[in-house]
Amino acid sequence: MNHVSVLLTEAVEALAVKPEGIYVDATFGRGGHSREILRRLGPRGRLIALDRDPAAIAAGNAIADPRLTLRHAWFGEVGTVLDELETKTVDGVLMDIGVSSPQLDEAARGFSFRFDAQLDMRMDTTQGETAAEWLARASQREIVEVLKDYGE
Ligand SMILES: C[S@@+](CC[C@H](N)C(=O)[O-])C[C@H]1O[C@@H](n2cnc3c(N)ncnc32)[C@H](O)[C@@H]1O
Repeated sequence: MNHVSVLLTEAVEALAVKPEGIYVDATFGRGGHSREILRRLGPRGRLIALDRDPAAIAAGNAIADPRLTLRHAWFGEVGTVLDELETKTVDGVLMDIGVSSPQLDEAARGFSFRFDAQLDMRMDTTQGETAAEWLARASQREIVEVLKDYGE
């Protein structure tokens, strides 16, 4: 299934991309917004893209574009990433926060009740415990609190 980026044109339009600018896509996903930013950048522009999901980074590694720097990182780490890249200022930051459709559509990611699969629900599958592991040790009170505080 093709991934459809939300408000693709509107969001990138709002960034007012300058051809020689430096931009951050803090939630790369499947790179819909990133590709549109790259399309608007000139040869000297730069795009730094982050995602905490290693599957997003693996998909993005197929983009062979020297203007793109892709990092497996949380968006809260953007300052550290920019420091590592010796980049002091940027011209715009795009954050398309939430889950991506591939996370919901792949049974093994354990996000969706559409599939009979192990509950995982981690965006970053390289760390932390799965939802199934947490459920096995959480008290009823903790489960109620999590559903109340984080459920929508
Ligand atoms: C709605 S998708 C982004 C889709 C993307 N704009 C596109 O066009 O393909 C949200 C992405 O944010 C990532 N994400 C969620 N929380 C994050 C965090 N704290 N740091 C970095 N990435 C995060 C998810 O892994 C997911 O890939």
